[in-house]
Amino acid sequence: MSLAADDRRYLWHPFTQQRGWEAEEPLVVAEADGCWLIDEDGRRYIDGVSSLWCTVHGHRHPILDLAVKDQLDRVAHTTLLGLTHAPAVDLARELIAIAPDGLTRVFYSDSGSAAVEIALKMAFQYWQQQGGPNARRTRFVSLENAYHGDTLGSVSVGGIDVFHSAYRPLLFDGWRVPAGDAAAMERVLAEHGEEVAAVIVEPLVQGAAGMAMQPPGYLRSVRELCNHNDVLLICDEVATGFGRTGRMFACEHEGISPDLMCLGKGITAGYLPLAATLTCERVYEGFLGEHEELRTFFHGHTYTGNPLACAAGLASLQLFEQERTLEQLQPKVRMLANLLKPIGELPAVADVRQRGFMCGIELAGFPAEARIGHQVTLEARARGVVVRPLGDVVVLMPPLAIPERELRTLVEVVRDSIEAAVSAHAAASTPLAA
Ligand SMILES: Cc1ncc(COP(=O)(O)O)c(C=O)c1O
Repeated sequence: MSLAADDRRYLWHPFTQQRGWEAEEPLVVAEADGCWLIDEDGRRYIDGVSSLWCTVHGHRHPILDLAVKDQLDRVAHTTLLGLTHAPAVDLARELIAIAPDGLTRVFYSDSGSAAVEIALKMAFQYWQQQGGPNARRTRFVSLENAYHGDTLGSVSVGGIDVFHSAYRPLLFDGWRVPAGDAAAMERVLAEHGEEVAAVIVEPLVQGAAGMAMQPPGYLRSVRELCNHNDVLLICDEVATGFGRTGRMFACEHEGISPDLMCLGKGITAGYLPLAATLTCERVYEGFLGEHEELRTFFHGHTYTGNPLACAAGLASLQLFEQERTLEQLQPKVRMLANLLKPIGELPAVADVRQRGFMCGIELAGFPAEARIGHQVTLEARARGVVVRPLGDVVVLMPPLAIPERELRTLVEVVRDSIEAAVSAHAAASTPLAA
């Protein structure tokens, strides 16, 4: 039996219509090298989406490999429930050193969804424990088209109907406002502010919405509105964190600090599952008390703060310094913008959006059943590039460390692939001449 056959027989893939999956030949990744994925037959593909927005310094980076191997020689897993260990402490200290001012505490988990779930529960419980009129602060304000993960709390503050509508009966209510519209946020907080525990946003870029960008100044206005209404601000930097927007965290572009910040994906540079919810001293202190007061934060996943993952995270932060990753990124961000220009001129392309290394190419004018975004990925794969679309938006999010030559190849291949997919669609929809 081939791996592909066993995959079809035993696996159920995430966010995948299995009927379509079973009809296609899967790409079986056997290994990776730098910014390349390599299949079973030795064919190489540029990892154009950083293995789902995670890889930062490239695959199999010797420093990251060594950090994980070294930790493996000490202990692979222990627990933060009742014990502690160096990688968790060291990484927490380093995260706080680079986080926006005012964030002072790190609570680990193992996925972006969990990091969001934790932020929501912390904000909720914080206000409950304040008591008095503040105990009425039980709801959240979130943005339309938000994506914060797949657990029920994070889906409750999500706003992408195709993903979320099936679960509506299971979700808690809140208020949802259009992203980028500070006046709408102001209105909802003016009307309901005293019932709001927190506002949650993806700062600057709503990734899963198709790389939707917020106007400059919006995040700062949201911060000010939260201050004005004494509402906590949760910034979900799971996608934007660790350099993707060109700065270490998206919040830095607007010089703001959230009260809670969610991190995941790039935190281990794409090596191991780890996430973190950072919070300020005010929230942390709201949980202090005697045991019997039950102000404890009753939350913790089994693999919380796993040592191997924390060791990878720590090594990644060292690499950011050593390889001056963010400095090296700046000319590549400009280069990417230039490379994208001709793509923006293609007739099938309605919009090209870019912030740092987060970029979405929106195709328009195709029926949903054409799955044009997916067709582009198949064309790209045949040309040695892996990308994954969000509907009809082709996403590019290469590893920060991608060399300029590979970046150029990536964008050129994507342009050719869009042209090829559009031509194939046109040919298939043109009736044959009589
Ligand atoms: C902004 C944001 N938050 C949360 C998540 C969920 O992260 P995970 O898939 O690790 O649960 C994602 C995933 O894409 C995301 O983009």
